[in-house]
Amino acid sequence: MNNQDWYIDAFDEWYPIVYQHRDEKEAQEQVEFVFSELNLQYNHKILDLCCGYGRHINFLFPKVSFVVGYDLSLYLLKKARHFLSDKISLVRGDVRYLPFNPESFDVVLNFFTSFGYFDEDKENIRQIEQVSFVLRNKGTFFFDYLNPLQVKKITKIETKKTYHSYIIKENRFYDEISRELKKEVSIYLNNQLKKSYTERVKIYSLDEISRIFSSQNLHIQKIYGNYNKESYTEESPRLIIIGEKNE
Ligand SMILES: C[S@@+](CC[C@H](N)C(=O)[O-])C[C@H]1O[C@@H](n2cnc3c(N)ncnc32)[C@H](O)[C@@H]1O
Repeated sequence: MNNQDWYIDAFDEWYPIVYQHRDEKEAQEQVEFVFSELNLQYNHKILDLCCGYGRHINFLFPKVSFVVGYDLSLYLLKKARHFLSDKISLVRGDVRYLPFNPESFDVVLNFFTSFGYFDEDKENIRQIEQVSFVLRNKGTFFFDYLNPLQVKKITKIETKKTYHSYIIKENRFYDEISRELKKEVSIYLNNQLKKSYTERVKIYSLDEISRIFSSQNLHIQKIYGNYNKESYTEESPRLIIIGEKNE
């Protein structure tokens, strides 16, 4: 595995420990936001791109009858299979190579910073190209990303948290040269290091994202700075974009 493949290593059995706060309660609130903003209908076909263990799908189905979860992590997909209804299709694969026909979905959802994982811009753009490919004309792309204006201010943040007997240390900083938010994660049990890795998320400005969308036949319809429907500002925790595929 090379340095670029951090996302293959990171989303395993340690992920629920590191991201314990990204729970079902949060997912329920986010899905409520999506229902109110996207005007989801029962007969819509929805793709949850990078679905993780399916915490959002759990609140989408059965209000929406057709939901597919797509992710690369075998561990998280197995967890999703136990957690979700048998009626939900779960597909394993890479975001750059979606195995669906053109215009298969009315809505593609991409929750919680599931973009910017590839070293090369063209690979990240390919993810958006694939979204556009599988969306029907006038279909909706929901995109929930870090606020690039906030991230660029991070010189160094060190945190320590616990989960049962585990201690998780995180060291975050924005690397101006690679334009990545890097997060070094170390997990300890009884003072022994059990796992360590570095997350790397490429940071794109709103302008750049807008240009990437345009290049892939998508446009931005609405922007929010959080799930309380507040406007996007420099201080916002998130950059939430509701996009649409052009006719
Ligand atoms: C930050 S998590 C978010 C998961 C989920 N959306 C949630 O909010 O719980 C990112 C997800 O992207 C998946 N992922 C990472 N790289 C991927 C890739 N190249 N192709 C498909 N999925 C990928 C991970 O396995 C993980 O489930």
